Amino acid sequence: MTDSPAQAPVLRLAPSILSADFARLGEEVRAIQTAGADLVHFDVMDNHYVPNLTIGPLVCEAIRPHVTIPIDVHLMVEPVDALIPLFAKAGANIITFHPEASRHVDRTLQLIKEHGCKAGLVLNPATTTDWLDHVMDKLDMILLMSVNPGFGGQKFIPSTLGKLRAVRQRIAAHQAAGGQPIWLQVDGGVKVDNIHEIVRAGADTCVAGSAVFGAPDADGGYRTVISALRRAAHPTE
Ligand code: DX5
Ligand code: ZN
Repeated sequence: MTDSPAQAPVLRLAPSILSADFARLGEEVRAIQTAGADLVHFDVMDNHYVPNLTIGPLVCEAIRPHVTIPIDVHLMVEPVDALIPLFAKAGANIITFHPEASRHVDRTLQLIKEHGCKAGLVLNPATTTDWLDHVMDKLDMILLMSVNPGFGGQKFIPSTLGKLRAVRQRIAAHQAAGGQPIWLQVDGGVKVDNIHEIVRAGADTCVAGSAVFGAPDADGGYRTVISALRRAAHPTE
């Protein structure tokens, strides 16, 4: 008997530019790439699905030439479908959406893939994992929200840990039955002091907004916090 496979072997860090300096966004995304980020997490809010308003495809297109790492677009919008071709054209690599914001979840997932992007579903803290039941074969990523969407800088909701363990098991069962790999991402309140338990619960991709961009400065500060997150995630390595 080996240990339970709960611990994911890799850790991808996805700084959320929601907490970046929007007046210097090109510089900010270059700085996180240089500092070792794996993805740029791009939070899209529409003041309808969530009570906040952020950035759209034009901003995605503007930052695209500044980085080579994938842009991970988190759509907190309702309806969803009309924005997908626009973000694909703007250089998005991954597009995730909240299933209750789409009338036809399977169609939306297909639309994302038809436009050449990886596709994922986002589940809010109180959203059931039943949404995954009939679409596992179409998912490249599952994102579990560990705060209610709409704002950076909120506190991690601890019940996410049990949900991460349950979804990690579902992904393992799916892959054991010959299914494709699915990334398991967590978003909200990820910090140096809780990333270890988050990764142990099964996350392989962590969004961190205020933890990264709250670091003192772009030269060295981001690298220090990204390294600290990696070390804290896997302290024995
Ligand atoms: C919240 C966003 C998150 C947020 C994370 O709606 O989806 O990506 O920016 O920020 P922190 O890491 O500060 O909780
Ligand atoms: Zn997000």
